Amino acid sequence: MMLKKKDKYTIAVVGATGAVGNEMFAVLEERNLPVEKLRLFASERSEGKTLSFMNKDVTVEILTENVFKGIDIALFSAGAERSLHYAPVAAKAGCIVIDNSSAWRMDTEVPLIVPEVNPHDLKWHKGIIANPNCSTIQMVVALKPIHDAAIIRRVVVTTFQSVSGTGKKAMDELLNQTADLLNFKEIRPQVYPHQIAFNCLPHIDKFMDDGYTKEEIKMVNETKKIMGDDSIRVTATTVRVPVFRGHSEALNIETEKKLSANEVRALLSKAPGIIVYDAPEKNIYPLPTLAAGKDEVYVGRIREDNTIENGINMWIAADNLRKGAATNAVQIAEKLIEMA
Ligand code: A2P
Repeated sequence: MMLKKKDKYTIAVVGATGAVGNEMFAVLEERNLPVEKLRLFASERSEGKTLSFMNKDVTVEILTENVFKGIDIALFSAGAERSLHYAPVAAKAGCIVIDNSSAWRMDTEVPLIVPEVNPHDLKWHKGIIANPNCSTIQMVVALKPIHDAAIIRRVVVTTFQSVSGTGKKAMDELLNQTADLLNFKEIRPQVYPHQIAFNCLPHIDKFMDDGYTKEEIKMVNETKKIMGDDSIRVTATTVRVPVFRGHSEALNIETEKKLSANEVRALLSKAPGIIVYDAPEKNIYPLPTLAAGKDEVYVGRIREDNTIENGINMWIAADNLRKGAATNAVQIAEKLIEMA
């Protein structure tokens, strides 16, 4: 299914009132996509709300099955349940869906795209395109140039993920808990099973029978699919930390060919979507506060792992709402438009 070439397109954001949805139309505006008309959808709770796009108020509409006719591209971020139900309905109406939920990511009929890594997979979409998990996106952007140069055998990753990945309610919970604890008030965790302020929770998404969380399994499977290589072994521990915005990751990478830290620095400096930020003697290394609001993946603390023959350690940070979600989705839309 190809996007029909036009001067300008009708684009929709489904879940426009959410943390990622909000960012989606902000990024559409910022990157100046050729938008003829923007339509915003959410639940009946948001009916009548207006949001500003290109200095104009756009009224939020209720999502129903009948809304998709005449929409060229819809960016979905309203949860997996809504995506499962509405994405095929939209595709049937001729609208190309770029879905940020986990609903379609591992479906063999649905390409899973990070434009810096596998834009060629866009060619075989059938109306639904999946946007990967936020932690996976930033990791594969950093892994791809290393894999191309030296073939990655195995990655051990630990994540430090911000609460905005859970959504707006979680951001409120961190803010309120922090204020309450500083005022010696009692707290009652609601979004997370434990206190998130001043804490770290080694628990993102549901636990599976083997002891891993779904988030950890997503990082393993999605990486293989995006990189188009089932032989890359990934093992992950995902941790929620009391940061509002920006995910960080510690990566240990084992390659087939030896790469020095300097070679990795040089490779990544040339790669698209990456900023090498690596001068620890001057306290220069990636931070979530640095990455927040930016579209690139920051990479630093690049050093050789001397406990194995060919190993590299590094630390990366990116804005989970932007490159980890909205920016990646909008870049997919840009590619579709380019290919039309
Ligand atoms: P609403 O604000 O009307 O509830 P977040 O991930 O930040 O919590 O955001 C979730 C997004 O998904 C919001 O825009 C929310 O809209 C939207 N959403 C949730 N349930 C539905 C639904 N049944 N139909 C349409 N949009 C929904």
